[in-house]
Amino acid sequence: MSSAAARNRHFDDLFATADLRWLGQNTNHVPAHPDVLRAMVRSIESEEFHAYAPPLGFEALRRAIVDDLGVAATGAEALVTEGGVSALSLLVKARCRPGTRFVTTDPTWKWPCQFARQAGAEVVEIPIYDPAVGYRLTAGRLAAEVDARTSVIYLVDPNNPLGVCYDRAEIEAFAAIARSVGALLIQDATYRDFAAAPHPVLASLPEGAAMTVSFSKWLGLAGMRIGAVVAAPALIAELAGLSNATLGASVVAQRGAMAGLAVKGEWMARVRALDDANKAAIHARVATTPGLAVPVYPSHGNFLVIETAAAGIRPEALAEVYRRRRIMIRHGAYHTQRFGDRFVKVSTSVPAAWVREFCDLLPAMVEEARALNSPPEMF
Ligand SMILES: Cc1ncc(COP(=O)(O)O)c(C=O)c1O
Repeated sequence: MSSAAARNRHFDDLFATADLRWLGQNTNHVPAHPDVLRAMVRSIESEEFHAYAPPLGFEALRRAIVDDLGVAATGAEALVTEGGVSALSLLVKARCRPGTRFVTTDPTWKWPCQFARQAGAEVVEIPIYDPAVGYRLTAGRLAAEVDARTSVIYLVDPNNPLGVCYDRAEIEAFAAIARSVGALLIQDATYRDFAAAPHPVLASLPEGAAMTVSFSKWLGLAGMRIGAVVAAPALIAELAGLSNATLGASVVAQRGAMAGLAVKGEWMARVRALDDANKAAIHARVATTPGLAVPVYPSHGNFLVIETAAAGIRPEALAEVYRRRRIMIRHGAYHTQRFGDRFVKVSTSVPAAWVREFCDLLPAMVEEARALNSPPEMF
């Protein structure tokens, strides 16, 4: 079986598992807001899906996305995409080719790196899994790694999986470095709605930067596939000319996204309260489990990294014993080759009962994982 087929079988099996606890993909499993459900049901029942959506997205949604980021005054525009991943793929297509460099952190989000390599760019990952640097990128390290060949600086902010978030001063320092070499600074803002005080890069660098956003995590629309890239009009026009999605994104998903933005304040107050309580419960449980530790707390994403190395267990083994209990968590190697043997990641925008189950099982799962020497391949 090809590895693509094996990977697909793995996720197909997960999807077919009744009552699977999705604690691995930072998806949001809070029952949907009634207005969001209604908007999508109305869209389906009216059968408006027989028509294509406008190629850049419904104008009302494009405006609402820019307003939501607080960057309307910069003149930025949105291009609606099939998830944040398509927005990132489009940006890579626009800027990466042989002879260019794509500079990011380690850990980072791996798929844009794969897109950049496919386009012939050299990928440079600056290690940040290090308490000595506070698990974050510093301007000094970034400046040392960029040069005239650097066409993209890709910053996952808040970082998945670490959960660190950069402040205005840090973003402005990164922006100055990007400007000095003519690189596009991409801020992947997928998790910004879980952060205490995220700073949108476009507010500091209206030209020469792009933000990507997602409706998968805060609104819980992962399976609907909707996100956006937000940037200055000239870059949006350039991206529109390169896009494969010339027939637009899902009409139904866009209706859900618009309804979600209209109730965002109320919705996120609920989601954040649940997410914070789940993180606190896991943090407390880890503190009483020998050999485990949470390196970054609080996390500014809807997830927590749990270090497993001192417990003498492999992250894959812990993920596998939880999988046998119908609980999906992520092993570190999904995120990073270099640091992947140190940790697992657990997602927290989920029902409190799922997190209780995870916590109750934790000491027993650590013991079981210790006895599992060769866990199956994980994806
Ligand atoms: C950092 C990061 N960026 C982008 C995405 C993609 O999100 P979407 O579902 O909108 O494609 C993810 C999903 O896990 C992510 O972790």
